[in-house]
Amino acid sequence: MIKVGVVGGTGYTGVELLRLLAAHPAVKLTAITSRSEAGLRVDDMFPSLRGRVDLRFVTPQEAALESCDVVFFATPNGIAMQQAAALVAAGVRIIDLAADFRLRDPAEWEQWYKIPHAAPELLAEAVYGLAEVNREQIKTARVLANPGCYPTAVQLGFLPLVEAGVITLDHLIADAKSGVSGAGKKAEVGNLYSEVTDSFKAYGVAGHRHLPEIRQGLARIAGGKAVGLTFVPHLTPMIRGIHATLYARLSREVDLQELFETRYQNEYFVDVLPAGRVPETRSVRASNMCRIAVCRPQGDDTVVVLAVIDNLVKGAAGQAVQNMNIMFGEEETLGLTALPVSP
Ligand SMILES: NC(=O)c1ccc[n+]([C@@H]2O[C@H](COP(=O)([O-])OP(=O)(O)OC[C@H]3O[C@@H](n4cnc5c(N)ncnc54)[C@H](OP(=O)(O)O)[C@@H]3O)[C@@H](O)[C@H]2O)c1
Repeated sequence: MIKVGVVGGTGYTGVELLRLLAAHPAVKLTAITSRSEAGLRVDDMFPSLRGRVDLRFVTPQEAALESCDVVFFATPNGIAMQQAAALVAAGVRIIDLAADFRLRDPAEWEQWYKIPHAAPELLAEAVYGLAEVNREQIKTARVLANPGCYPTAVQLGFLPLVEAGVITLDHLIADAKSGVSGAGKKAEVGNLYSEVTDSFKAYGVAGHRHLPEIRQGLARIAGGKAVGLTFVPHLTPMIRGIHATLYARLSREVDLQELFETRYQNEYFVDVLPAGRVPETRSVRASNMCRIAVCRPQGDDTVVVLAVIDNLVKGAAGQAVQNMNIMFGEEETLGLTALPVSP
C-alpha cells in the first residue's frame, strides 16, 4: 500500500483528494493536515467520508509526513516549496497541486507570484505532471508539479495542433471559463452566492498567473519555439467545471478530426467527440475526463477547439492521483474510473 499524507485537507482540492484516495485500492491514508481544524475528526467536517476515513486533522508540524511514501500539497502557492527539500531528503515523494514547481525559471516565478522561490534547486528536477505529454519523466519524479486547472484544459486542447506543427504559433487565443470552486474554499466577498450567481465576468485580463505556465508548456510541446498566447479567464456561476474555447490559425491543410482522434487514441482520460458534437462541463463532472471537440467554422483557416474538464478532478485532485499511480507503478487509471455524475 502507498502511504499517503495530505497537507491542506480541508480545502476544495483537499477534500476531492480525500474522496478519491479513500476509495483507491492501493492507498493507505496516513496523515491529513489542517491548522484551523486540528483535532477534529475528518468525517465530522466531511460526512461524505464517514465510514471511509478514520483519521483526525493534525497540524502540519505534528503530522508524520516523513513516514509517508508520498505527500500531496493541496495548499496555497508558496507552501510546498518551504517543506519540499526536507521531505525529499527523507525519501518522501511530493505532489504539489499549487504552482510552486510549475515554472522552470525562479525569476519568472517571483515575477508572477511576488515572493522569492524557496527551493530553486528543486525546480530543476521537478517534473510537470501532464501525463499526456510527460509520462516517462513522471515515473521517476521525486517532486511533481501538478498542472493548473486552466493550463490542463488549454494545453490538452492545443496539444495535437502544436505537436503536428499545423498552426501558426504567434497568435493563439484561449478564452476560458471556470466554476467558482476554482477559487478555493476561503471566504471572499467576490465568491459569495449573490456576487457570482446570475452574472458572468472576465478577470485577470491583463495577465493571469496561468499564462506563463501555459506558454511554457506549449513552447515545450513545440520543441522550444516561442508561443504567443492571449489567455482570458472568466468566472461563471457554476460550482465545478472549466470550458476552454481555443482559437488558432491553420498553417497547412490537415484532417483535424483524424489528427485529434489519432493523438488521443491511447489516452484513457481524453475523449475526442465525434465531428459536429460540442462538449458540456456536466459531461465530465466529478470525473478525471477531458472531453474535446475540434472544428473549422465555415471551412475557414481558423481552427476552434472546445475542451472541458472538472477543475477539481482532471484540473487538480484526479490528475494528481493519476500522477501518483504513474509514479508508483500502478495502473494509471486505478481509482479514477468512476463515471461523471449527471444531472
Ligand atoms: N480549486 C481548484 O479548482 C484548483 C485547481 C487546481 C489547482 N488548485 C490549487 O490547489 C491549491 C489548493 O486549492 P484549494 O482550492 O483546495 O484551496 P482552499 O480550498 O483554499 O484550501 C487550502 C487548504 O490549505 C490549507 N492551508 C492554508 N494555508 C496553509 C499553510 N500556510 N500551511 C499549511 N496548510 C495551509 C488550508 O487549511 P488550514 O488553513 O486549516 O491549514 C486548506 O485546507 C492552491 O494552490 C490552488 O491554486 C486549485
